[in-house]
Amino acid sequence: MGRKKVYVTRKFPGDGMSTLSRHCDVLLNKKSDPPSRNEILRNIAGKHGVVCMLSDRMDKEVMEAAGAQLKVISSYSTGFEHIDVKEATARGIYVTLTSDILAEATADLTFSLLLACARNLVEGDRMVRAGRWNVGWKPDLLLGTDVHGATLGIIGLGRIGSAVAKRARGFGMNILYNNRNRNLQSEHELGAKYADLDQLLSQSDFVSIHVSLNEETREIIDMSALQKMKRTAFLINTSRGQVVNERDLIVALKNKLVAGAGLDVFQKEPLSKTSPLTKMQNVVLLPHIGSASIQTRSRMGDAAVRNLLEVLEGKKPDGRFLVNPEVAEFR
Ligand code: GLV
Repeated sequence: MGRKKVYVTRKFPGDGMSTLSRHCDVLLNKKSDPPSRNEILRNIAGKHGVVCMLSDRMDKEVMEAAGAQLKVISSYSTGFEHIDVKEATARGIYVTLTSDILAEATADLTFSLLLACARNLVEGDRMVRAGRWNVGWKPDLLLGTDVHGATLGIIGLGRIGSAVAKRARGFGMNILYNNRNRNLQSEHELGAKYADLDQLLSQSDFVSIHVSLNEETREIIDMSALQKMKRTAFLINTSRGQVVNERDLIVALKNKLVAGAGLDVFQKEPLSKTSPLTKMQNVVLLPHIGSASIQTRSRMGDAAVRNLLEVLEGKKPDGRFLVNPEVAEFR
């Protein structure tokens, strides 16, 4: 049997690419830009597997363009809203993810955003660089708010939310959480207290979102949720932009219904250069870099390659990485 053909839509750090090239014929998009829709449709034709990113829509048209030999869509991501899983399953295509490998790195970034918002880190840096630091030490220069002793409300206490809670405990914060199910382990180990969403919003000094995007979580933070938050509270989002109604958030920030926001994700990415958010002082904006550490992105690459090779070698990928175990019935 000849070598299997694989399409990789973007370069990624680590050894994964060389492992893949040892086993398969690889067509790699060498540009740092995502491939266009037409490039995907053209390049996936005849491939047995694809390693895709969350910016690559993998729908019926793409699967059709690939042909019946396509056996695996291995996404270099935790989220999978870019993949039509139902369509893939019906076609006998395994869909795999890099799962929660990014949990700790994303929790680190979440905490960075929280601290940056609380203590005016970005504004302080801007002030020094711009030559606006005119008086040495000043009793009221860039006064922020305490993190220790404050209450953090975590919406979604899965692997990332729990990793954030662990950090919050180290900082001496009180932790509230809201989740589909009670997480008794975190309640016990981290002292996290379950709260319904309204209680969490009204009692937290920082609200951090860690849910995956689905029809239940889309725009859970809208104007009515923002109005329930303390006027002194900050919203932190490193999950998906679509869980927040961005227009409502902009209105709430402008009208000081909340103190500020730390955002790594947006409804549309990249964020429009003309978005009102870019003009606001009370926000910290990042370009979707939650998992962007060398170590984590390399481990994600290793996992994406391992998942793909396992399927092409006729094995079932580890359940932790597999989105559609029911696909076995369609093969
Ligand atoms: C990042 O947002 C991911 O889903 O991997």
